[in-house]
Amino acid sequence: MKNITFRFLVSIGIITLVATSVCAKPVKAAAELPQLLQQDGRYALMVDGAPFVMLGAQVHNSSNYPQALKKVWPAIKDMNANTVEIPVAWEQIEPVEGKFDFSYVDTLLAQARQNKVRLVLLWFGTWKNTNPQYSPAWVKLDNARFPRMVNKDGKPSYCLSPFGEETLKADKKAFVALMSHLKKIDQAHHTVILIQVENEVGTYGLVRDFGVKAQAAFNQPVPQLVLDHKKSLVPLAATGTWSEVYGEYADQYFHTYAIATYIEEIAKAGRAVLDLPMYINNALRDPFDTAPWKDNFASGGPTYDVIDIYKAIAPHISFSAPDIYGPESAKFTATLDRFQRPDNPLVLPEMSNAAEYVRYTYLVLGRGALGFAPFGIDYADYSNFPLGSKLTDKTMVAPFGKIYAAFRPMARQWAKWAFEGRTYGVAESDARTAQTIALKNWKATVSFREWQFGEKAWFPNLKDLPANTEQPNGGVAFAQTGDNEFIIVGQHARVKIDGAAANAGKASLWARVEEGHFDPSGKWVMERVWNGDQVDYGLNLTGNPVVLKVTMGTY
Ligand code: DGJ
Repeated sequence: MKNITFRFLVSIGIITLVATSVCAKPVKAAAELPQLLQQDGRYALMVDGAPFVMLGAQVHNSSNYPQALKKVWPAIKDMNANTVEIPVAWEQIEPVEGKFDFSYVDTLLAQARQNKVRLVLLWFGTWKNTNPQYSPAWVKLDNARFPRMVNKDGKPSYCLSPFGEETLKADKKAFVALMSHLKKIDQAHHTVILIQVENEVGTYGLVRDFGVKAQAAFNQPVPQLVLDHKKSLVPLAATGTWSEVYGEYADQYFHTYAIATYIEEIAKAGRAVLDLPMYINNALRDPFDTAPWKDNFASGGPTYDVIDIYKAIAPHISFSAPDIYGPESAKFTATLDRFQRPDNPLVLPEMSNAAEYVRYTYLVLGRGALGFAPFGIDYADYSNFPLGSKLTDKTMVAPFGKIYAAFRPMARQWAKWAFEGRTYGVAESDARTAQTIALKNWKATVSFREWQFGEKAWFPNLKDLPANTEQPNGGVAFAQTGDNEFIIVGQHARVKIDGAAANAGKASLWARVEEGHFDPSGKWVMERVWNGDQVDYGLNLTGNPVVLKVTMGTY
């Protein structure tokens, strides 16, 4: 957790501002398209005029057909998701050049509305995981008109070249057709709240295009916009060709520039028709690796090290987002640190659906992400193990579903608190040690593998450990809703809160701990009060997440 107290203090000043901008024009606000707001480096995704957090689920890659949707909705219901991320493939909307078929899109939007969820549409066009497989046959089989990248020996790669003028023209035309159709059927509904442009772009096995056009561009001076945003990691020339300025990083940065230029043109054209926020997702490189590309990640994709190039070249892309399929806690957290920046909101459009990732739901939502989506959430009877879970039924969905069930009734409040800088998150680390969080005038300590009674030190000979904690699966999310008031949701963790800063050294107690929920109007409804054993040793959160409203007191 970096400098969270500071984040909170900074947030105090914006509360009125946000409330004013949302409340001042309620009628207009409801008519406004989804958009991103930024204040002091924090973000809100505004949907129907108020902050919204995507409790999302991404379906499998081939679930984008009307028949397949039948196996999507039951899983989404079990998940308690409020948003579904789902592909729209170029090959399905334009199977024959110039002839568009939006029947799937129509079915999808109608069923999403019936199921009371929003949609994030994933545009699988020129590149899906760097590959042209979702482009129509008339594109992916015509090398002459839609060229592939070539290596130094002129041998073609599998990947389409970002220098293919016809490819860009054709992808843009199809994307604009999609956005025009959405404008017709959804402008007043806001069922679709975000658009992902392409999917995990970049190239494996080849650092950049070495074709004639690409080479000519590579020999040109680096554009000023790139120079302004991206400093060389090594002291080299301040201006000049890509090689002169960026040395060993030149090929990767140039390819990034080429893909960013391509994507910008598509996003810009799409937003000119219907101005929805658009983003790109990333197949990660190791967050601790800073060395030049050595065939260890997709060159040209929005890896953490080149987000600045996308910012410079693709202003119609609102953010770059990480897809996380590595469970190690240190890397997971480092990846969030790399992508959550004052100029780049945190969104996890994909995360493994395996059990060891469940704990990260609290960390990501607590860090104020605009959205979060485990991948492979449908009942299509397909497992992407070892990236994801081996399970393909309710038992795969349930661990996430019970967390979303706690968050969903207060999702709007949570999004507002996040925008105000009031939220914090913890996931149990692989080391399984206790973690502390600096709140405003309070400090929370979160520990794991505790029994619900007493302190570990009292029972030195006790070897038993709580059931279902064999793997790290604890997590807690906090919102500080007042000076001494917190909303807490978590699982498999013990929470203690002590005075800090202005309250440091003061004797403190749980003034009141209520378990309850928020009703649809946003009013807190108390179900019971925790006291006695339920608070004497901290708040012991079990495997069943509940929402607690906690008031601290000093004496
Ligand atoms: C990341 C991709 O973006 C997804 O579409 C999917 O292929 C997963 N990897 C793997 O299941």
